[in-house]
Amino acid sequence: PCARSGGRQRTLAMIKPDAAASEEEIVALAHRHGLRVVARRRLNLSPAEVRLFYREHRARPFFPSLVSFMTSGPVVALVLEGEDAVPAWRELMGPTNSQTARAVARASIRAQYGTDGQRNAVHGSDSPCSAQREVSFFFGARSLVPIQLRLIFDRM
Ligand code: TYD
Ligand code: MG
Repeated sequence: PCARSGGRQRTLAMIKPDAAASEEEIVALAHRHGLRVVARRRLNLSPAEVRLFYREHRARPFFPSLVSFMTSGPVVALVLEGEDAVPAWRELMGPTNSQTARAVARASIRAQYGTDGQRNAVHGSDSPCSAQREVSFFFGARSLVPIQLRLIFDRM
């Protein structure tokens, strides 16, 4: 239904606050793996924006702590384009937990730049549909509207 899988794809990547200082190294790794940066934005997320971005996890016990972590400093949102960009970037990120990543995928970004199951350096869309939604979240026309206004408009 969303973008076709396979072929040239776009995905939404995010460098989280724990790795924002390594932005250039991480972007260079993406390049080296055939992923081109088509949009890039460094910003601070508000708690409301993080709750919206990660709403599928809102009932999980780690959610409040995830919101504090994600608002603790700047993030870098990137639109990456390349062959099978969605799975290619997930593969380069490594497993969700950086400790697991160090055990099973030592060359991955999460192994190199993350700490644990929460401070894990990077995000990547998990499907072409998520990619479409997440690219609009950061780069759509609506992302220029402040979150408080968006929450009001969404109810009209
Ligand atoms: P999830 O979608 O499961 O992982 P991924 O980022 O690999 O798609 O979880 C989203 C984020 O939520 C994850 O990157 C970090 C955070 N998180 C925790 O803080 N604790 C946890 O136990 C899990 C599973 C995730
Ligand atoms: Mg996920």
